[in-house]
Amino acid sequence: MTASPVVEVKNLNKSFGENHVLRNFSMAVHEGETLAILGKSGSGKSVLIKCIINLIPADDGLITLLDNNVEEMNQDNLNELRAKVGFLFQSNALYDSMTVRENLEFPLRRHWNKEQRERGAEKAVLEALNDVGLAHTIDMMPAELSGGMRKRVALARTLILRPSIILYDEPTTGLDPVTSREISNLIIKVQQKYNASSIIISHDMNCIHMTSNRVLMLIDGRCYANDSYMNLRNSQDQKIKEFFD
Ligand SMILES: Nc1ncnc2c1ncn2[C@@H]1O[C@H](COP(=O)(O)OP(=O)(O)OP(=O)(O)O)[C@@H](O)[C@H]1O
Ligand SMILES: [Mg+2]
Repeated sequence: MTASPVVEVKNLNKSFGENHVLRNFSMAVHEGETLAILGKSGSGKSVLIKCIINLIPADDGLITLLDNNVEEMNQDNLNELRAKVGFLFQSNALYDSMTVRENLEFPLRRHWNKEQRERGAEKAVLEALNDVGLAHTIDMMPAELSGGMRKRVALARTLILRPSIILYDEPTTGLDPVTSREISNLIIKVQQKYNASSIIISHDMNCIHMTSNRVLMLIDGRCYANDSYMNLRNSQDQKIKEFFD
């Protein structure tokens, strides 16, 4: 671990009208760490993760990503930073009209020049698909894949630029327990192979237990608890216990 966190959020506030979603929320992720964020549906987990990469602007507070103050960055610098920060969307966000290959090439078109793509795109697409065990789907359309396979393709697309930070929004939601475990194992494999630092938003306790070093609980817009999975599981606090029942 390094002294300075790779992701740091300080006193973040975010409201939509009267709906105060995040209230003076603070957190940090250190290099190589996998932090899970646990919270009920609607508690603001997706809003938080989107504020972190400035997909939605925070009302106030400080967000630092790899030593950059996110809100002070211009569009070019932000785009450059986004190549280092992979985001696995809750909805996968695959393009339905594109093949798996084209979906994976999409971030390369944004971040690599023509010469880099001609030299390395094919290899990069295949390696990312191999990482998730889906090289054989390269010419298929997303609609031809199962839910678990679509999640894995979305993960491959997140990995293709070799991000040093990966943000996972509900990576196992909507999947059966066996497929959820497969995705959790893939997340562990990816962390080990690329030594990425990660934030995993989830209410799948198995996924959180398997993948994370530390768990943060988001309740009423604030960081309610910040501890290891085991310590939280043994907690006598009623609000914490609810998540484990
Ligand atoms: N663009 C938006 N405009 C207005 N309100 C929003 C917007 N995005 C989110 N919200 C509100 O912010 C709150 C938190 O939403 P968020 O999507 O972060 O929840 P979540 O914790 O990710 O829930 P889930 O577990 O169901 O995915 C909700 O009340 C939601 O209605
Ligand atoms: Mg969400």
